[in-house]
Amino acid sequence: MKQIDMNPYQPYRKMGNSCELREVADKKVVWPLIDHMDTATPNFRLRTITRNDLDAVAELWRISYPEVYGSVHEWILDPNEYEERVAFAEHWPEHSVTRPHAVMVGEDLQSNRIVMSSIYTKWDLNLQVEASFIAIHPDFRKGPIAASIWSNLASFYKWLEDSGAEYVTVFCETWHNTTQYIWFKRLGWKIAGIFPGNLTRWTGDEREYRGCTIHFYRFLNGGDRISTRPEEWDLLPEVSELWEFMEKINEQSSEEAL
Ligand SMILES: CC(C)(COP(=O)(O)OP(=O)(O)OC[C@H]1O[C@@H](n2cnc3c(N)ncnc32)[C@H](O)[C@@H]1OP(=O)(O)O)[C@@H](O)C(=O)NCCC(=O)NCCS
Repeated sequence: MKQIDMNPYQPYRKMGNSCELREVADKKVVWPLIDHMDTATPNFRLRTITRNDLDAVAELWRISYPEVYGSVHEWILDPNEYEERVAFAEHWPEHSVTRPHAVMVGEDLQSNRIVMSSIYTKWDLNLQVEASFIAIHPDFRKGPIAASIWSNLASFYKWLEDSGAEYVTVFCETWHNTTQYIWFKRLGWKIAGIFPGNLTRWTGDEREYRGCTIHFYRFLNGGDRISTRPEEWDLLPEVSELWEFMEKINEQSSEEAL
């Protein structure tokens, strides 16, 4: 963090009366190194990306998530774009700290194919990790490999607890509701909001639209303890009503065993 003398200044209002406070300090999220196999699926390995995976991973996104073409996220389609952004297993001590994106891949050891990829983004000073993208190759969406992917994804958020992150978020696209279901009903995350027209997305034939995304959140490592509570939020009555309703809906979020 920057060393700036803030003594001559003051915030608009003294906030933080409904929660714990802490000293402002440097903060870091450190990516966990993933290398995992399940006994039930001995041919499936979940692991952190290496440079050798780049072409296969970019190709997986082109097949499975081409909607990002022309958007702020289109870098995931181009193997050259990963070089400066992504934490590679072969440089782990340095990259786990410095790189803004982690990529977890699923490898089918029988065919030596990358069949799943998921990308995470961190913001150190916000102690936040966003689960930015997930895709499973269309040929592997049902059956034991898919089951292993979903159960390990649940574990991934446990592994993230060691990263130091205290706030995890995800945005789900709206061309299906599968990921909304998984994050809300299986992983127990809460709805943060509906963002109509949030992101440009490709619809084929060099044409695009602005898609709606659904945002979810979850606290880790006591992040909720330093988060302000509704009693000190200054909300318009309509926004307050919306919050009450969202809380009611969020009571239905559950952590089903995967
Ligand atoms: C999104 C994606 C990863 C989901 O994987 P998938 O294998 O197709 O997921 P499934 O449809 O099998 O759903 C997973 C599980 O959730 C259940 N599920 C999903 N949506 C559900 C719903 N609305 N209601 C009830 N159950 C639901 C499924 O029944 C399945 O459970 P099961 O294994 O016990 O049968 C995959 O379709 C993909 O890669 N899509 C392209 C990229 C993409 O859209 N990424 C996400 C953008 S937010």
